Amino acid sequence: MTDLPPELVCPTCLGELRPAGLLLECAGCRRAVGERSPQGPLVDFIREPQVATRGLGPWLMHSRLLARVYQRYWRPLFTAVAGGRPHDLAEELEFVDRALAPAAGGVVVDLSCGPGHAALHLHRSRRHARIYGVDWSLAMLREFAATLAREGIDDLPLVRADVARLPLRSGSVDGIHAGAALHVWPDPNAAAAEIGRVLRPGGGFIASTFAHQEGGPLQLIEEVFEKVSDARVFHESELLGIFDAHGIGDLETYRRGSLILFWGRRR
Ligand SMILES: C[S@@+](CC[C@H](N)C(=O)[O-])C[C@H]1O[C@@H](n2cnc3c(N)ncnc32)[C@H](O)[C@@H]1O
Ligand SMILES: [Zn+2]
Repeated sequence: MTDLPPELVCPTCLGELRPAGLLLECAGCRRAVGERSPQGPLVDFIREPQVATRGLGPWLMHSRLLARVYQRYWRPLFTAVAGGRPHDLAEELEFVDRALAPAAGGVVVDLSCGPGHAALHLHRSRRHARIYGVDWSLAMLREFAATLAREGIDDLPLVRADVARLPLRSGSVDGIHAGAALHVWPDPNAAAAEIGRVLRPGGGFIASTFAHQEGGPLQLIEEVFEKVSDARVFHESELLGIFDAHGIGDLETYRRGSLILFWGRRR
């Protein structure tokens, strides 16, 4: 990937980016706001090795060890405990494909992509013109970049950015997936506002996270998980309300224990 993908803009002022060697200068801010990696597909809009986080769960997402074991061990374990049965990734990805049908032939962002299994699935499906992997953890993005290099994929841009300040043009994205990430976002409301901003009207959105099963058998586990990990377990109505308030309508849900998948369309 040599050219800068056209959807990218300055995350601070949404100004145009001008490449200056590996640096990306913003025409509005008149300074370098991003940097391309010399080795791979990564464009870094954070440019600090470590992001300051609060709490164990969010902090762990920046660990190289966790990034290594995340896909094979960590994700299946957490989704199985929260869902009350072994996790069915194929079923989850079917929901993702259906919710992103409005993005056929268009641009899809895998928001907080981690080591990238969903972005890779979307890339392999060939249903979309471009898939972005966006995350703020260098460890996760490096793990993803290594997979892309192994598979010889050079047309899947990886972007290091905070979900609350996306370096994407308003209305330029046809579909967004945010898998298993909302509960570790520092400010879900600011993130939902950004999702509403970058999605074009009619664009598809789908996310998965943890939500309380009021009075359900997993209530104690949910409480302990929240205390120990500093990750959130949402109330379903709160979660849907946040996205509805930022223009994501026609919201539908699928529940399995404390897991929730929910999807809708930008109004
Ligand atoms: C549990 S992982 C989910 C990975 C993958 N999407 C999945 O479905 O398994 C959560 C991801 O959210 C990312 N994340 C947390 N806060 C973020 C933020 N403010 N901006 C961007 N990514 C963030 C973490 O770095 C981590 O990679
Ligand atoms: Zn700028």
